[in-house]
Amino acid sequence: MDEKIKLSYEDKVYDFPLVRGTENELGIDIKTLRSKTGLITLDPGYKNTGSCVSNITYLDGENGVLRYRGYDIDDLANNSSFIEVSYLLVFGEMPSEDKLTKFENDIRKESLVHEDITSILKSFPHGAHPMGVLASLTSALISFNPGSVDVNSDDKMYHAIVQLIAKFSVISAWVHRKAKGLPLNYSDNSLPYIENLAQMMFKNPNEEYSSNSVVTSALNKLLILHADHEQNCSTSTVRIVGSSEAGLFASISAGISALWGRLHGGANQAVIEMLELIKRDGGDTSRFMEKAKDKNHPFRLMGFGHRVYKNFDPRAKIIKKTADEVLKDLGIVDPILNIAKNLEQEALNDKYFVDRKLYPNVDFYSGIIYRALEIPTEMFTVMFALGRLPGWIAQWREMKLNSEPIGRPRQIYSGSKYRNTERA
Ligand code: CMC
Repeated sequence: MDEKIKLSYEDKVYDFPLVRGTENELGIDIKTLRSKTGLITLDPGYKNTGSCVSNITYLDGENGVLRYRGYDIDDLANNSSFIEVSYLLVFGEMPSEDKLTKFENDIRKESLVHEDITSILKSFPHGAHPMGVLASLTSALISFNPGSVDVNSDDKMYHAIVQLIAKFSVISAWVHRKAKGLPLNYSDNSLPYIENLAQMMFKNPNEEYSSNSVVTSALNKLLILHADHEQNCSTSTVRIVGSSEAGLFASISAGISALWGRLHGGANQAVIEMLELIKRDGGDTSRFMEKAKDKNHPFRLMGFGHRVYKNFDPRAKIIKKTADEVLKDLGIVDPILNIAKNLEQEALNDKYFVDRKLYPNVDFYSGIIYRALEIPTEMFTVMFALGRLPGWIAQWREMKLNSEPIGRPRQIYSGSKYRNTERA
């Protein structure tokens, strides 16, 4: 039975359809609101606005649940490969062995990046932020792969997707090498995706390299945990840019810029900077807790709180355990891990944080792993982007296949009334 919501305005009552999701999430379909009533909705930050109906990711913030295409995040993180999860997100089903092999091979075939991209990379100044470089190189890839823009057939879309997955790991690794002042490594197509990524990032020309299975397993988990998170800031950016038919690579480049900010993906960098600051300051976490609660102070506890999670971020739990495993395997004792754990305990027992349901989020412990792998702090958000890529692609593809209209919000104008330039 069609369920309706009634809205009354100026003595008239209007009916709007109630939309019910698979997990009983409810929304009011207001597509006809303006044409029927002349009204629009006002919702800065889109805290109450659903921008689409999506069947990719389910997130229950109250209960700390995250599922990709119906599969729980810890099931996927513990039992799948990142490329398998990428296929699942983009195409909707777990791949059969044959389909997975084909997908992996198609990605391998695209793993050469045009050599002129290296000249662009080299022209960035030393110290350029890796996220700016990554966004620029992703845009630059369009010129070298112009066929990726107009993808109005399944084959062309598939080709653009495998191209991007392949080349994005190469340029991400190159951004890392540039940040460290090291020579660039090319893709080694004999290796699986994560091992290949590890050699492109970490192999030095003067020694043999063999990847450590604890490290590759941690990288695999981290990428899976970051792979999608429904309509967050960067994903909404990807969908909205894509809705203008700007093309896949351009949409992803815009998503990278949105992810960069410290309230979004940039929080993983901000967390480590905060933990280092606390360490330099003598390690007294309580002073920083007080600052975080002081409304007259701009300081926030980075890596805490989430727009949707009002309970433990399920990703944070897995990452915390993985951080312990990686540090133990590499024999690293990092004092900032203890600072992080103390801070977490204090926050979980503090009325301010409890009342506002502020829990550690995905970014709280991920930086500790990256730091143990000697990945520079400014690279952390690039690692997030590498993980988020299949989610962005899946969301862009869904938007295209649903023929969603161009994203174009309205506004309530509050500026001057009509005036002209004639002097009185
Ligand atoms: N430290 C101290 N107070 C906080 C924090 C924090 N990290 N986060 C939220 N609050 C307070 C906030 O001041 C407000 O208090 P009051 O009700 O007294 O005004 C209340 O909690 C609600 O916060 P909000 O800013 O209205 O919530 P939001 O949904 O707009 O913001 C957030 C969510 C993630 C931007 C915010 O929690 C934050 O800034 N966290 C720190 C940055 C961070 O870790 N970002 C990574 C998010 S997870 C990765 C991703 O998906 O991007």
